[in-house]
Amino acid sequence: MTWRATVLTLFPGVFPGPLGASLAGRGLRDGLWRLDALDMRAFGVGRHRSVDDTPFGGGAGMVLRPDVVDAACGAALAEVPGRPLVALTPRGEPLTQSTVRELAAGPGAVLLCGRYEGVDQRVVEARGMREVSIGDYVLSGGETAAMVLLDACVRLLPGVMGAAESAAEESFADGDLLEYPHYTRPAEWNGLRVPEVLLSGHHAQVARWRRAEAERATRERRPDLWARRAGGDPSRTSAGEGRAPPLAARSDAA
Ligand code: 6GU
Repeated sequence: MTWRATVLTLFPGVFPGPLGASLAGRGLRDGLWRLDALDMRAFGVGRHRSVDDTPFGGGAGMVLRPDVVDAACGAALAEVPGRPLVALTPRGEPLTQSTVRELAAGPGAVLLCGRYEGVDQRVVEARGMREVSIGDYVLSGGETAAMVLLDACVRLLPGVMGAAESAAEESFADGDLLEYPHYTRPAEWNGLRVPEVLLSGHHAQVARWRRAEAERATRERRPDLWARRAGGDPSRTSAGEGRAPPLAARSDAA
């Protein structure tokens, strides 16, 4: 069955956007997944098809009306029932590869793109929406966030990526280790040489070097990921040492 995404938005014209290019775009054209952008304005109320109103309690901005959002959800689910509803909002749970895998394994998703100050919380709860954020920064709307979520899901669908990329996803236990650095020709560029081990042809040494570089990048750039990993299972680090020793015990401490 085709994985089907329906995006509920006030800006249907921005889709598929970048999802129409590259692997996701080919998958879309090949029918491996399908994307429908549903204009919430079509469910607006009154002569002006209003979709939002001022917040109760006062404050800046506008809030999407629950009746309008509910009607749009109803229309999307009538088309393909049983899909999870996801509201893109900066106050949602952080999007993780685990959530992405879960969504990609299902029938698709209905994605609600917030605009203005947000969405009336009653419809979020009444529809059992999952509130998801793509990171700790504020976007002007959920559309770009929905594209991020879709890109992450679609690349996991059978047939979307080639065999090479699929294998890479597995070997780096997706999400808990950063990638090692990559190099290509020329072997020397502007006086800068590619690390010699990569030119050596010693596959085991290359694999060891890459593993060590991936771990170093994770330790230095993402101490949060590193702590979870090293703390959870010491045998999974290349050195097997588990958690890093306290700073005072380290020879490289300043
Ligand atoms: Cl999902 N929406 C908006 N508007 N801002 C965000 C976000 C989502 N995730 C992070 N910032």
